[in-house]
Amino acid sequence: MEKGRFYRPFFFDSKSRISSLSLGSHMTKKYTITAALPYANGPLHLGHVAGVYLPADIFVRFLRMNDADVLFVCGSDEHGAAITLRAKKEGVSPKEIVDKYHHLIGTAFNDFGIEFDVYDRTSSEMHHETSSNFFKELNKKDRFIQKTSEQYYDADYNQFLADRYIIGTCPKCQSADAYGDQCEKCGSDLSPTDLINPKSTLSGQLPVLRKTSHWFLPMDQHEGWLKQWITEGLLDGEQQHDPKAWRNQVTGQCMSWIDGGLKPRAMTRDLDWGVKVPLPEGEGKVLYVWLDAPIGYISATKKWAKENNKKWEDYWLKEHAGDRKLVHFIGKDNIVFHAIIFPILLKDHGGYILPDNVPASEFLNLEGDKFSTSRNWAVWLHEYIEAYPDKIDELKYVLTSIAPESKDSEFTWKDFQSRVNSELADVLGNFVNRTVVLTNKYYSGAVPVQGTLTEQDHKILKDLADIGHRIKDLVMKYKLREAQGEMMGIARLGNKYLAENEPWKLVKTNPERVETIMSVALDITLKLSIAAAPFIPNTAKKVQHILNVDFTKWDQFFEARLPEGSMINTPEILFKKIEDDFVELEIQKLKGKSEQTSKFAPMKEMIDFDTFQKMDLRMGKILSAEKVEKADKLLKLSVDTGIDTRTVVSGIAHHYTPEEVVGKTVLVLLNLSPRKIRGVESQGMVLMAENEEGALSFLETEKEFLQGQSVS
Ligand code: MF3
Ligand code: ZN
Repeated sequence: MEKGRFYRPFFFDSKSRISSLSLGSHMTKKYTITAALPYANGPLHLGHVAGVYLPADIFVRFLRMNDADVLFVCGSDEHGAAITLRAKKEGVSPKEIVDKYHHLIGTAFNDFGIEFDVYDRTSSEMHHETSSNFFKELNKKDRFIQKTSEQYYDADYNQFLADRYIIGTCPKCQSADAYGDQCEKCGSDLSPTDLINPKSTLSGQLPVLRKTSHWFLPMDQHEGWLKQWITEGLLDGEQQHDPKAWRNQVTGQCMSWIDGGLKPRAMTRDLDWGVKVPLPEGEGKVLYVWLDAPIGYISATKKWAKENNKKWEDYWLKEHAGDRKLVHFIGKDNIVFHAIIFPILLKDHGGYILPDNVPASEFLNLEGDKFSTSRNWAVWLHEYIEAYPDKIDELKYVLTSIAPESKDSEFTWKDFQSRVNSELADVLGNFVNRTVVLTNKYYSGAVPVQGTLTEQDHKILKDLADIGHRIKDLVMKYKLREAQGEMMGIARLGNKYLAENEPWKLVKTNPERVETIMSVALDITLKLSIAAAPFIPNTAKKVQHILNVDFTKWDQFFEARLPEGSMINTPEILFKKIEDDFVELEIQKLKGKSEQTSKFAPMKEMIDFDTFQKMDLRMGKILSAEKVEKADKLLKLSVDTGIDTRTVVSGIAHHYTPEEVVGKTVLVLLNLSPRKIRGVESQGMVLMAENEEGALSFLETEKEFLQGQSVS
């Protein structure tokens, strides 16, 4: 049934002036391809890889095989609350966070063989300049509305609370932890003031309202053209793209945003980490991360162009780019930013091309649950690479087989094992191996003469050519999962051909026919190596090495043959089987990791017993307590430790009144070097438990203990 769709006449609008919309031999040869800039606040997991980076890489590799002029850009997204909150959690500066993860992510991409032309970062000077100028231009053109409004503010931290700095109950689905900009549960777009029971994620306190002024993008004014551009592909009466080529869920999500009514959205924030608002009135404010980050694609292009003697304008500006196509590979949580907000910005600025397609993926789940960074329920790309550097193609193959192109899908280690063993090893590896072994055995590795082809031989060669056309058609429609399935179909055909012809039996009675059979089998192997290249490039190279050729062009799939009489090499094992222990070990690792961490801070560095022994921990009794002047968090306690009475300053005034604490028997660390806090010398520390909301509690004993008794 699916098959009929490959031949469906391609949508073509009669008004169109752009004939290169059609695929096949008229394929547009110029592309700017972007892959969502990952936040440099944590490592990449397999969900990111399957949904964004691997499909983008496959698409690009395929275009390159077709001699397209492709620029493939990516980089780290280094601004926004995602970064600053992570830095706060780890107790380091945002710069330390982005440096660490920019490097880690970049290395993982490299090791995994995702071949960007440039992997830039949004903290670069070039990016600050580019995004800042972009903002200035929009402001000059009056595309923003500057507005003063009341926004939530955390008085303890002296900070306005936008985006992830504020959580509360979602007004639409009642989920308890919706962010100030979005509810991750139901996908609704929110403002902090929409939240029920808002709470600061910094202090856990109820925020107050304060006036502040921001630059808003009046998205509501753009509904008309957006609707026409998204559903019909028309912009200013010109055909820009084929709307049917967009995935249903992308068009659907955009239309539900537009039909729900777009609201003006603030494009600036009261923060100090980010690109500074380049206007005198913008003091203390930065650009909204979703304004600056997509411009990162342009900055990355500039960096690459400068280093490679090219003009960045050729990749982005209508006047220079001609019919170049801009394609954004993203995950579904990024749809509104790439298909609505960024296009508005590009159009408002003027001169830019708009995306031809925004192939967004759905989500990948892991062993029956959502990937979760905070719960450590993830397979991290860099950890996989470190553990299995020789199994890169295995992972690529499996992730493409289950790619969440049109609906959510799931990765399990059991399924990984079964696909590697029964598809890569038993089908692809086995076919190549048999062909190479027999060629070496019968002809000492020399490619035999093809001789006369039978009808069956002609048929299989025709079937292979059909597969070749289908692969191209599918890839150009972003159906990479099916395209890879077709590639695997080549190996299946090959196995079937050998099984039906049984050259190992015929070799005694009809050696001439066996030469033809082996020659056809070698042709199939060669085609397989070309078709495999976008999906499993290392394997494709290995097979070509065995065949002693280097065919990297898509057209060679149809045309190239191994020269008769040329020598091939000896076989090598392409895929080792995955054992059951492998699966068990990986599942154990996953469960172990998620238990250790969950929502709590990771374990601190190990200490030895002697270090522990150095602490003098005892029970103490609070004799009196008073507030410390001009320090609203602090209480000055007088504690009877059994051996003396001493002063301890404790940051608990938000949680306890002096009256509440007097008389309590508490756990005290006695031999902590004295410290002056707000002019009062504190001689020790009262130990407290703290929960994720920042609430504090004394550690009290179950039975009555006397002050001075030690704790160990
Ligand atoms: N960092 C964002 C995310 O991980 C993606 C940014 S894409 C860009 O969801 F266009 F803004 F760069
Ligand atoms: Zn919700």
